[in-house]
Amino acid sequence: MAKKLRVGVVFGGRSGEHEVSLRSAESILKALDKRKYEVVPIGITKQGNWLKAGEAQKLLPGEVISGGSVGLTMVGDPTRSPLLRTDGAGAVAEEKIDVIFPVLHGTYGEDGTIQGLFEMANIPYVGCGVLASAAGMDKVIMKHLFREAGLPMTDFIWFTRRQWESNPKKVIAAVVREIGFPAFVKPANLGSSVGISKVKTKADIEPAIELAAKFDRKILIERGVNAREIEVSVLGNDEPTASLPGEIVTGAEFYDYADKYSAASHSETVIPAKLTAGQIKKVQQMAVRAFQAIDGSGLARADFFLTRDTKELLINEVNTLPGFTSISMYPKMWEASGLPFPALLDRLIELALDRHREKSRNVTSL
Ligand SMILES: Nc1ncnc2c1ncn2[C@@H]1O[C@H](COP(=O)(O)OP(=O)(O)O)[C@@H](O)[C@H]1O
Ligand SMILES: [Mg+2]
Repeated sequence: MAKKLRVGVVFGGRSGEHEVSLRSAESILKALDKRKYEVVPIGITKQGNWLKAGEAQKLLPGEVISGGSVGLTMVGDPTRSPLLRTDGAGAVAEEKIDVIFPVLHGTYGEDGTIQGLFEMANIPYVGCGVLASAAGMDKVIMKHLFREAGLPMTDFIWFTRRQWESNPKKVIAAVVREIGFPAFVKPANLGSSVGISKVKTKADIEPAIELAAKFDRKILIERGVNAREIEVSVLGNDEPTASLPGEIVTGAEFYDYADKYSAASHSETVIPAKLTAGQIKKVQQMAVRAFQAIDGSGLARADFFLTRDTKELLINEVNTLPGFTSISMYPKMWEASGLPFPALLDRLIELALDRHREKSRNVTSL
C-alpha cells in the first residue's frame, strides 16, 4: 500500500474568526479521505498556544479527532522536520509532515503571517502564499490591485486612525463630499463583517469610524450600492478556474456578522445564482482576474455586487481562506460545478504540492 500523505490541519488561532475556523476545520477533518491521508490535527488557542491533539479536540464542536495526544509546535528551520513534538518533560522529537492545510480565517491565519512560517519551514501548504494572503486581507491594498487589473468597483476613500484622530472634521467632510450616503465604514484588515457599519446620515459617521478604528489602523469608507451579492469560487495555481456563481440573499440591512453565522440568520444562498449566461461568463472571468490580481494560488472566493439598476458587476473583495464548512459557499459552489467536497480537498492538496515543487525550482544561492 502506498504511504499515506501526512496532512497537518491547522485551526482556531488568534483571530476574531476563531469559532468560524473551528467549524470549517470540523468539516474538513471529517471529509479528508482517511485512506489517502493521515491527518494530524493542530489546534491553536485564541492566545496562540499550539495544542496537543486531545486538547485540540476540545476546541472543536464535534468529536472528530481520534487518538494521540502529542504536543506540537512548528519551527522555521528547514533543515529539521518543521513540526516538533513536545512531551510533558519538554523533550523534543521530530514529527514528519507532508503538507499543511491551514483552516484559519482572519488575522494570523489568512493574512500571510502563518504562511510566512510555512515558507520558513519549507513545507507545502494549501492556499495562497504570503503576498496574496496579505493583499487579500487588506481591503485597501486589494482595491489598488483590482484597479490596476481594470476591475470595476464602488468609489472609496481610506485614511489612518491617526489621521482621523488628528482631524475628524476633515475626514467627515471628505465622506460627505466624495462618498455620500449610504456609506460603508470598514476596518481595512478584517473579515466576517466585524467592525463594519452602514452609515445613512452625517451624524452616524463618527461612531462608525470609532468602531472600525478599534480593529485596525487603516479605515476604508465605500459608497454603498444597492446590489445583489454574487460569489464565485476560484481554484488553481497558474491556470485558475472559476466555479458557477452563487448568490447571497441577505435578510438583514446588509450581510453582517449575525446574518453570516447566527442560527437566526435570515440570509439564504442560491446556487447557482440566477444570472444570464452572459453574466455568468463575465463574473467568472472577473473572478479569475481578481484572483490573479492578488497573485492568488490554491483557492479564493471572489465576491461581487451586481447593481440592481444598471446591472453592473463590481468586485467587492477576494477571500483567500473562505468559510469552509460543508455548507459554506466555497465548497457548495464547487459541488454545483461538479466537484464534490472530498475531491475538492484532494485537489487543494495537489495544488499545494504542485506550488511547492514549482517554487523549489528557484535558485536560492548564487
Ligand atoms: N459598498 C457596499 N455597498 C453595499 N453593501 C456593502 C458594501 N460594502 C459591504 N457591504 C455589505 O457588507 C457585507 C460585508 O462587507 P465586506 O466588505 O464583504 O466585508 P467582510 O470582509 O467582513 O466580508 C457585504 O457582504 C455586504 O452585504
Ligand atoms: Mg465579504
